[in-house]
Amino acid sequence: MLSPTADTIRLFLHVLASSVWVGGQIVLGGLVPRLRAAFPESTKVAAQAFGRIAWPAFVVVVATGIWNIVDIGVSDTSTDYQVTIFVHVLLAALTGVSAAVHSLGRSKLALALGGALGLLTALAALFTGLLLQSGS
Ligand code: HEM
Repeated sequence: MLSPTADTIRLFLHVLASSVWVGGQIVLGGLVPRLRAAFPESTKVAAQAFGRIAWPAFVVVVATGIWNIVDIGVSDTSTDYQVTIFVHVLLAALTGVSAAVHSLGRSKLALALGGALGLLTALAALFTGLLLQSGS
């Protein structure tokens, strides 16, 4: 069997934390309409409980993302690869800002737009992460 290296740990933590961030939003999005219908008060509790898991995961995503950038030596990579990293990090920033708007916003527009953009940009960050993986 192949032996794990520091790169394996770095990518494992980055992918694990990003799975919690992206997958958690998908699962919560599926649960909330059923919860709201059965127990109208429960959605707030569910959202708060999710936040206590998702935000620490996002911190790990950013910390391991910085570790990725330091480790791969961006200046030695192709322009296409660098542009993809830029788009990947931009999408990661947008998903964080959108999720913050969703959880702090009080208007229906902030909730809906923040939630939808938070998930879409998270999915796009995941996709561009995999482009980086296949392009390295
Ligand atoms: C929600 C946000 C994010 C998601 C979903 C995400 C997801 C991913 C995924 C799936 C990969 C491919 C891992 C692999 O090679 O198997 C990846 C790679 C990468 N990510 Fe992210 N990421 C996010 C945020 C960030 C941030 C904030 C940074 C930088 C500060 C970053 C920097 C990188 C870099 C440089 C790579 C290439 C690593 C390598 O090939 O060694 N990511 N990301």
